[in-house]
Amino acid sequence: MASPSETKPAVETTEAQIAVHWREEEYLHPAPAFIGQANLNDPAVVERFREENFPECFREYAEMLHWDRYWHTTLDTQNPPFWKWFVGGKLNVCYNCVDRHLARHKNKAALIFVPELEDEPSVAVTYQELYTRVNEVAAVLRDFCGLKTGDRVTIHMPMIAELPITMLACARLGIVHSVVFGGFSGEAAGLRAADSGSRVMIYADGYYRSGKPIDHKSSADLAVEVAAQEGQKVDKVLVWRRHRGQYLSQKPMVAGRDYFMDDVLKDYARRKVEPVSMDSEAPLFLMYTSGTTGKPKGCQHRTGGYLAYAAGTSKYYQDIHPTDVYWCMADIGWITGHSYIVYGPLALAATSVIFEGVPTYPDSGRPWRIAEQLDVNIFHTSPTAIRMMRKTGPDEPAKYNYHFKHMTTVGEPIEPESWRWYYHVVGKGQAVIVDTWWQTETGGFLCSTKPALDPMKPGSAGPPVLGIYPVIYDEKNQEVPRGSGKAGNICIRNPWPGIMQTIWGDNERFVQQYYSKYCRDKNSKDWRDWPYFAADGAVVPNDGYYRILGRVDDVINVAGHRLGTKELESACLTVPAVAEAAVVPIVDEVKGRMPEVYVSLKPGVSDGKQVEKQIVSTLETMIGKFARPKGVHIVPDLPKTRSGKIMRRVLAAISNTMDTGDVTTLANPDIVEVIRKQIQGEGPVELKEGPEDVKRFGENE
Ligand code: WTA
Repeated sequence: MASPSETKPAVETTEAQIAVHWREEEYLHPAPAFIGQANLNDPAVVERFREENFPECFREYAEMLHWDRYWHTTLDTQNPPFWKWFVGGKLNVCYNCVDRHLARHKNKAALIFVPELEDEPSVAVTYQELYTRVNEVAAVLRDFCGLKTGDRVTIHMPMIAELPITMLACARLGIVHSVVFGGFSGEAAGLRAADSGSRVMIYADGYYRSGKPIDHKSSADLAVEVAAQEGQKVDKVLVWRRHRGQYLSQKPMVAGRDYFMDDVLKDYARRKVEPVSMDSEAPLFLMYTSGTTGKPKGCQHRTGGYLAYAAGTSKYYQDIHPTDVYWCMADIGWITGHSYIVYGPLALAATSVIFEGVPTYPDSGRPWRIAEQLDVNIFHTSPTAIRMMRKTGPDEPAKYNYHFKHMTTVGEPIEPESWRWYYHVVGKGQAVIVDTWWQTETGGFLCSTKPALDPMKPGSAGPPVLGIYPVIYDEKNQEVPRGSGKAGNICIRNPWPGIMQTIWGDNERFVQQYYSKYCRDKNSKDWRDWPYFAADGAVVPNDGYYRILGRVDDVINVAGHRLGTKELESACLTVPAVAEAAVVPIVDEVKGRMPEVYVSLKPGVSDGKQVEKQIVSTLETMIGKFARPKGVHIVPDLPKTRSGKIMRRVLAAISNTMDTGDVTTLANPDIVEVIRKQIQGEGPVELKEGPEDVKRFGENE
């Protein structure tokens, strides 16, 4: 910890309590036609989910599922903060998302896969076909791979229908899947496979992106090698082929290790595998995410509570009915895709669209052609995608004949201007919008308006969702009152069914990261003493609409993807010429934030350009292309405190043309002006106010 005099900003407030000034936006109201048909249009629901009715209120979500055995205890708090939900209950997630819909919906599309190449037709997979295919894949996992309930499997795949099919096959057997976003490198996938102890990895040979085939299987060899270095032997790699009988990868298949799924499946045609009745508390999947430390952590989600929460929030907040065509543009490799492309929508027997490509290829009308062609009526995307679509095709939506009733924005704060374009142009003024705030850890939404019941307010996520009771605390554990105009750390006071169980293999870190900061009494078995620390800054005015300001830890939210500063810095430090590295967020008009890298070099290194290139390629191979920095700056030295801590806050201020504050107490104050001139030029510059998360960046060091 640096001493307070070294880190204190010029203004006299506690660090978490920076005052936030922004214009209050006007409310907009959902259209009567939407309200009439909405799943959640009875205001009495608010009563049912009042704190007095917690935790039993969550039965309402669990009852949307089929249970093989009913639970006896809704919430068990005996071992805080390791909450248990629907204890004693048994169910199977795959049965709930597939088998139980066959009686009424077998001929209805469960998934519609839309290839990126427009001349390749889309593929609808009915619930009956999904059932057949999931069973066959489950047979391969069990009988060909020898996998059992509780084993882990790492799935490194792009957006093709075989991804949810593989996930559901795992869920059918109680195999814990760990899906790694397709954009991650082989090395990143290998590290995650090792951490989860996966001996089977599942790949696709390739996919299309911006019109070009991408060789994806080529990352498998590195993944297997990195896993082995970490002590984890991967003995089988199953490879789905994007086009049957054709191989999109340049890398040869490794005999005895790599198998084409279409070949293996021939021996398992029409096989049926009974769904394994799972304990409500059995782990369903892991989803790795970045945090404060260098190593990504495996958020472990439970079977019963997770599915109940995904289904309940999908029904009430996404307004999904079995007759809807729902398209969420996120990637299944992130939590949004798990909860709101796969599990939530399928639990409700909806039709879920899976789009392989980018929304701007071959032109910016593509998303709206898809919407028109498939008659999509619920649309879900992120502020980054909204900004990108607005920039490249501001007038495109009007050219297409589609009608959304409901739209979601998720993943980052959205600026009111982008919100308004989304509302008026994409939604044509007819669709209701929900701005949903939540996290990988939380399984489902935490704040959102109830689409038919609450007015919308551009730029604010809104009130807490049903059964969630948040609070904003400052750094001194004092509650920041509503309407004070002060920001603080948003916490959730109570457990809820979607919250992760733990960090895979690291209970201690789970407690440390999320519960130690505001725990009132470590010996208490009362959930009221264990608020969940979300690591987001927030502010709440008198109307109770939470406005999320962004991360307060060292996580940079790049286009809605979480990247840990420490993770990026450790990658930079593997470049031999680099002596020291610091990564800070820089505002980007499309991606929200991007990483910017500052490094100092070891003595005697002269070719700076070469080092810059090495840094970029190292970030791409160790993490993935989406981690590419906006800039790499080679500087003579990094600003440091007297105790030797790198002052990332000062660098973030320089990158974003903000006030660097008082730097006189640094060990090397003169370097600040040197770096400033190098980045901003010699002349005077006009300083900007800068967004809240950038202002607060690095404050907890
Ligand atoms: C940010 C994505 C503002 C937030 C579901 C959070 C948001 C992080 C919103 C989690 C929103 C997510 N408004 N910020 N509606 N939704 N965030 O784990 O900083 O990939 O902590 O989960 O994204 O990102 P994650």
